[in-house]
Amino acid sequence: MTPPTGAAAAQRIEGVVEHGDERGRLLGFPTANLGVHGQDLRDGVWAGLVEVDPGTGRATTHVAAVSVGHRPTYYDRTGERLLEANLLDFSGDLYGRRVIVHLITRLRPQRRSTGSEELVTQLRADVAAVREWAAGAGHSGS
Ligand SMILES: Cc1cc2nc3c(=O)[nH]c(=O)nc-3n(C[C@H](O)[C@H](O)[C@H](O)COP(=O)(O)O)c2cc1C
Repeated sequence: MTPPTGAAAAQRIEGVVEHGDERGRLLGFPTANLGVHGQDLRDGVWAGLVEVDPGTGRATTHVAAVSVGHRPTYYDRTGERLLEANLLDFSGDLYGRRVIVHLITRLRPQRRSTGSEELVTQLRADVAAVREWAAGAGHSGS
Protein backbone atom coordinates (compact mmCIF):
# COMPACT_ATOMS: atom_id res chain seq x y z
CA MET A 1 0.00 0.00 0.00
CA THR A 2 1.29 3.47 -0.83
CA PRO A 3 0.95 6.44 1.52
CA PRO A 4 -1.66 9.04 0.61
CA THR A 5 -0.76 12.10 -1.43
CA GLY A 6 -2.30 15.46 -2.20
CA ALA A 7 -5.77 16.39 -1.02
CA ALA A 8 -6.44 12.92 0.42
CA ALA A 9 -3.85 13.53 3.15
CA ALA A 10 -5.87 15.67 5.56
CA GLN A 11 -3.28 15.97 8.33
CA ARG A 12 0.23 14.57 8.62
CA ILE A 13 2.10 14.16 11.89
CA GLU A 14 5.64 12.85 12.03
CA GLY A 15 7.47 11.69 15.16
CA VAL A 16 9.16 8.99 17.17
CA VAL A 17 6.89 6.59 19.09
CA GLU A 18 6.94 7.20 22.86
CA HIS A 19 6.16 4.92 25.76
CA GLY A 20 2.51 5.11 26.87
CA ASP A 21 1.20 3.94 30.22
CA GLU A 22 0.65 0.44 28.72
CA ARG A 23 -3.10 0.49 29.45
CA GLY A 24 -3.85 0.08 25.75
CA ARG A 25 -2.18 -3.30 25.71
CA LEU A 26 -4.26 -4.40 28.72
CA LEU A 27 -7.43 -3.22 27.00
CA GLY A 28 -6.51 -5.26 23.90
CA PHE A 29 -5.85 -2.14 21.80
CA PRO A 30 -2.13 -1.37 21.94
CA THR A 31 -1.27 2.08 20.67
CA ALA A 32 1.73 3.87 19.22
CA ASN A 33 1.86 7.19 21.08
CA LEU A 34 3.13 10.59 19.90
CA GLY A 35 3.11 13.75 22.00
CA VAL A 36 1.19 16.47 20.14
CA HIS A 37 1.14 19.20 22.79
CA GLY A 38 0.35 22.55 21.18
CA GLN A 39 0.05 21.13 17.65
CA ASP A 40 -2.80 22.41 15.53
CA LEU A 41 -4.78 19.18 15.28
CA ARG A 42 -8.47 18.52 15.81
CA ASP A 43 -9.13 16.27 18.82
CA GLY A 44 -11.22 13.19 18.12
CA VAL A 45 -11.02 9.70 16.70
CA TRP A 46 -9.82 9.34 13.15
CA ALA A 47 -9.46 6.72 10.43
CA GLY A 48 -6.00 6.98 8.97
CA LEU A 49 -2.79 5.46 7.74
CA VAL A 50 0.53 5.09 9.56
CA GLU A 51 3.87 4.82 7.78
CA VAL A 52 6.43 2.93 9.89
CA ASP A 53 10.16 3.49 9.28
CA PRO A 54 9.47 5.90 6.37
CA GLY A 55 12.33 6.55 4.01
CA THR A 56 14.07 3.31 4.87
CA GLY A 57 14.23 0.05 2.97
CA ARG A 58 11.83 -1.53 5.49
CA ALA A 59 9.07 1.12 5.30
CA THR A 60 5.51 -0.21 5.65
CA THR A 61 2.09 1.49 5.74
CA HIS A 62 -0.81 0.34 7.93
CA VAL A 63 -4.48 1.19 8.35
CA ALA A 64 -5.10 2.63 11.85
CA ALA A 65 -7.72 3.90 14.29
CA VAL A 66 -6.21 7.08 15.75
CA SER A 67 -7.19 9.01 18.86
CA VAL A 68 -6.13 12.65 19.44
CA GLY A 69 -6.90 14.25 22.78
CA HIS A 70 -6.70 14.18 26.56
CA ARG A 71 -8.36 10.75 27.16
CA PRO A 72 -11.27 12.12 29.21
CA THR A 73 -12.14 8.64 30.52
CA TYR A 74 -8.96 8.67 32.59
CA TYR A 75 -7.72 12.28 32.80
CA ASP A 76 -9.03 15.84 32.97
CA ARG A 77 -8.00 18.62 30.57
CA THR A 78 -4.72 19.05 32.43
CA GLY A 79 -3.68 15.55 31.31
CA GLU A 80 -1.16 15.16 28.50
CA ARG A 81 -2.57 15.61 25.02
CA LEU A 82 -1.60 12.59 22.96
CA LEU A 83 -1.97 11.08 19.55
CA GLU A 84 -2.47 7.32 19.89
CA ALA A 85 -2.62 5.06 16.87
CA ASN A 86 -3.93 1.49 17.00
CA LEU A 87 -2.49 -0.16 13.90
CA LEU A 88 -4.90 -2.77 12.60
CA ASP A 89 -3.48 -6.23 12.01
CA PHE A 90 -0.03 -5.20 13.21
CA SER A 91 1.98 -6.82 15.94
CA GLY A 92 5.43 -5.61 16.72
CA ASP A 93 7.30 -3.20 18.91
CA LEU A 94 7.06 0.38 17.68
CA TYR A 95 8.76 2.13 20.59
CA GLY A 96 11.52 4.44 19.39
CA ARG A 97 10.62 4.00 15.71
CA ARG A 98 9.83 6.87 13.39
CA VAL A 99 6.29 7.07 12.03
CA ILE A 100 4.23 9.37 9.86
CA VAL A 101 0.55 9.41 10.81
CA HIS A 102 -2.04 10.56 8.27
CA LEU A 103 -5.37 11.57 9.83
CA ILE A 104 -7.82 11.16 6.99
CA THR A 105 -11.45 10.85 8.13
CA ARG A 106 -12.73 12.07 11.52
CA LEU A 107 -15.13 9.51 12.99
CA ARG A 108 -16.21 11.12 16.28
CA PRO A 109 -15.16 13.35 19.20
CA GLN A 110 -13.31 12.02 22.26
CA ARG A 111 -15.79 10.85 24.90
CA ARG A 112 -15.68 10.21 28.61
CA SER A 113 -16.65 6.55 29.12
CA THR A 114 -17.86 5.25 32.48
CA GLY A 115 -14.81 2.98 32.58
CA SER A 116 -12.59 0.59 30.67
CA GLU A 117 -15.42 -1.82 29.77
CA GLU A 118 -17.48 0.87 28.03
CA LEU A 119 -14.34 2.23 26.34
CA VAL A 120 -13.47 -1.23 24.96
CA THR A 121 -16.97 -1.52 23.45
CA GLN A 122 -16.42 1.90 21.85
CA LEU A 123 -12.94 0.91 20.58
CA ARG A 124 -14.37 -2.23 18.94
CA ALA A 125 -16.92 -0.07 17.13
CA ASP A 126 -14.17 2.37 16.08
CA VAL A 127 -12.03 -0.43 14.63
CA ALA A 128 -15.06 -1.79 12.73
CA ALA A 129 -15.72 1.71 11.34
CA VAL A 130 -12.07 2.04 10.31
CA ARG A 131 -12.18 -1.33 8.52
CA GLU A 132 -15.28 -0.20 6.66
CA TRP A 133 -13.57 3.08 5.73
CA ALA A 134 -10.44 1.23 4.55
CA ALA A 135 -12.44 -1.17 2.39
CA GLY A 136 -14.35 1.73 0.83
CA ALA A 137 -11.18 3.76 0.27
CA GLY A 138 -9.31 0.82 -1.24
CA HIS A 139 -6.75 0.47 1.57
CA SER A 140 -6.49 -3.26 2.09
CA GLY A 141 -4.80 -4.49 5.27
CA SER A 142 -1.21 -3.43 5.69
C1 LIG B 1 -9.38 4.39 18.36
C2 LIG B 1 -9.23 4.97 19.74
C3 LIG B 1 -10.26 5.73 20.28
C4 LIG B 1 -10.15 6.26 21.57
N1 LIG B 1 -11.18 7.00 22.07
C5 LIG B 1 -11.11 7.47 23.33
C6 LIG B 1 -12.19 8.22 23.91
O1 LIG B 1 -13.21 8.50 23.27
N2 LIG B 1 -12.07 8.62 25.19
C7 LIG B 1 -10.94 8.35 25.96
O2 LIG B 1 -10.91 8.72 27.11
N3 LIG B 1 -9.89 7.68 25.43
C8 LIG B 1 -9.95 7.24 24.15
N4 LIG B 1 -8.90 6.55 23.61
C9 LIG B 1 -7.64 6.48 24.37
C10 LIG B 1 -7.59 5.34 25.35
O3 LIG B 1 -8.07 5.80 26.59
C11 LIG B 1 -6.13 4.92 25.47
O4 LIG B 1 -5.68 4.39 24.26
C12 LIG B 1 -5.92 3.91 26.55
O5 LIG B 1 -6.20 4.48 27.78
C13 LIG B 1 -4.47 3.38 26.54
O6 LIG B 1 -3.54 4.40 26.78
P1 LIG B 1 -1.98 4.06 26.72
O7 LIG B 1 -1.65 3.72 25.29
O8 LIG B 1 -1.29 5.32 27.16
O9 LIG B 1 -1.75 2.90 27.62
C14 LIG B 1 -8.98 6.02 22.32
C15 LIG B 1 -7.94 5.25 21.78
C16 LIG B 1 -8.04 4.73 20.51
C17 LIG B 1 -6.93 3.92 19.93
